[in-house]
Amino acid sequence: MQAIIGTDISYAKLLLQKGELVAIPTETVYGLAGNALNEDAVVKIFTVKNRPQFNPLIIHIPSFDVAQKYVTAVPEIAKTLARHFLPGPLTLLLPKKEVIPDIVTAGSKNVAIRVPDHILTRELLSQLDFPLAAPSANSFGYVSPTSAKHVYDGLNDKIPYILDGGECMVGLESTIIGFDENENLILYRTGGISIEDIEKVTGVTPVIKTNESDLPDTPGQLKSHYATDTPLYLGNISEMILEYKEKKIAVISFHEHFEGIDINNQFILSPSGSLEEAAKNLFKVLRKTDDLNVDIILTERLPDEGLGRAINDRLGRAQHINK
Ligand code: TXA
Ligand code: MG
Repeated sequence: MQAIIGTDISYAKLLLQKGELVAIPTETVYGLAGNALNEDAVVKIFTVKNRPQFNPLIIHIPSFDVAQKYVTAVPEIAKTLARHFLPGPLTLLLPKKEVIPDIVTAGSKNVAIRVPDHILTRELLSQLDFPLAAPSANSFGYVSPTSAKHVYDGLNDKIPYILDGGECMVGLESTIIGFDENENLILYRTGGISIEDIEKVTGVTPVIKTNESDLPDTPGQLKSHYATDTPLYLGNISEMILEYKEKKIAVISFHEHFEGIDINNQFILSPSGSLEEAAKNLFKVLRKTDDLNVDIILTERLPDEGLGRAINDRLGRAQHINK
């Protein structure tokens, strides 16, 4: 089987109704989607992705109103967040109803709810009478896909259809927020909605719980996620160029070129220094540099603010297993 790439929502719907998997576009990254209420379809997601079943899946719905079918309660502060940011790159952890199979949440009482902001996928979701469980459509541990081609490169012989919605506009996965009994906000993953924007809208500073251990509560936070096959080093690029001068080097920088490195092996995330543009380009550039015939990739931290925090988080995890 080779995956077909197309824009046929009816065909995607038919496959999903039969319990098959379809890759879907979102504003963050492409998802590997299956019927969240069908355990066999959910098992297929774990198998195709080669993902351990202790790592729960986000469910995708067409609008936040639909969440009431799947969760028992929505705190006021969650409603505020939904009102401001959904549809959009924010996932909310809410207490699940029984209709959501335990395999989706890896046994947790909470289910991760997301309303993606992409016209094709919203149309598809609105035609389905079940939510779509969808992790990022990459093999477990590799860089997330931000185009139909990225999905094809990783999963072409494992799924029947890739719904092509073009390049993802945000380019980083959704921010994941949970709530405790006191309506504190817990941030489990930095992503497409910045902490600053969440603070602005709620007046609350989230407690950061982006777990750093190798056996975290939120396993998407495993350090070895997002890794390129080529060893990636994070630090001061000029210093590292000298340190590794014997090696074939590719450079990923925020907004400047460096002397002494082949221009074809240099990638700039945003010439104008925009964190949004850098986010949009990040995974595409990681994949491009990984396809070059170089020994190492040198890159740097971006300013630790706005989307820069999520970018730095992903770069940090990409680096880990190479050390
Ligand atoms: O932007 C996104 O969120 C993309 C697109 C496709 O929607 N999806 C995505 O899924 O990034 P995935 O599976 O690659 O990452 C989901 C993260 C994981 O870190 C997982 O552990 C966490 O969400 N998660 C899912 N359900 C959870 C739950 N019930 N409790 C705690 N964490 C949960
Ligand atoms: Mg992922």
